[in-house]
Amino acid sequence: MARTLTFSIFRYNPQDPASVPHMQEFRLEETESMTLFIALNRLREEQDHSLQFDFCCRAAICGACAMVINGRPGLACHSKTKDYPDKITLMPLPVFKLIGDLSVDTGTWFRGMAKRVESWCHTKKIFDPTAQEERMDNALAERIYELDRCVECGCCVAACGTALMRDDFLGAVALNRVARFVLDPRDERSEQDYFDIIGTDEGVFGCMGLLGCQDVCPKSLPLQEVLGKLRLKMAFAAANHLLPRFLRREIKL
Ligand code: SF4
Ligand code: SF4
Ligand code: FES
Repeated sequence: MARTLTFSIFRYNPQDPASVPHMQEFRLEETESMTLFIALNRLREEQDHSLQFDFCCRAAICGACAMVINGRPGLACHSKTKDYPDKITLMPLPVFKLIGDLSVDTGTWFRGMAKRVESWCHTKKIFDPTAQEERMDNALAERIYELDRCVECGCCVAACGTALMRDDFLGAVALNRVARFVLDPRDERSEQDYFDIIGTDEGVFGCMGLLGCQDVCPKSLPLQEVLGKLRLKMAFAAANHLLPRFLRREIKL
């Protein structure tokens, strides 16, 4: 027999002075292969047109539908109701600005992050549109694409104790982005350039290493490995300043 699910959903419209943050309960009959995305759409269509939440791709690609599901950040379109108990609590992601109910503004945060880490290839080469594309070693290209699979959902930021306490902390997603450029031979930034961006308390040295980020990443990015290697690389970059040239060491990612 189909279960009747109870959804306890955070409601608040910051644009409306009369709105007060509260939890609202809805009931819905579970259907086969139901995802939270399907459930939320049915609730909005059948019970409350004012319910706010975001989605776009329905395939874990756009990152828009991230929310806190029974206390854990995740993607609504990627979460089947059968994997949850009869009562499901949905909250908006913390850290990001609330738009309303379950909808948050991740775009502004991610744009700011991209600017801070200068998320583009730095090169002095003049682009020649008629030249042949430069070849890249396949194995290296795959390592870069692996890190590029991030969908900017914000789950890792919402699960990060440091990001919750400090809004200047770059977070695992930014450090993962930097690692992607460190690997890329087309980016001509030096170790010192990277150190200036992430070799601080707001970057690798502010990370507590408890790896809530990796636990919740819906794309299973290797954040633990990235954070560990970047921290070591930045520690050596700092020490290299003080050491004679023959003792200097560079850590490869
Ligand atoms: S390991 Fe670092 S980035 Fe990841 S959740 Fe913990 S403090 Fe945040
Ligand atoms: S690293 Fe993972 S959890 Fe973080 S924004 Fe990218 S896809 Fe989402
Ligand atoms: S709707 Fe795009 S990731 Fe869920």
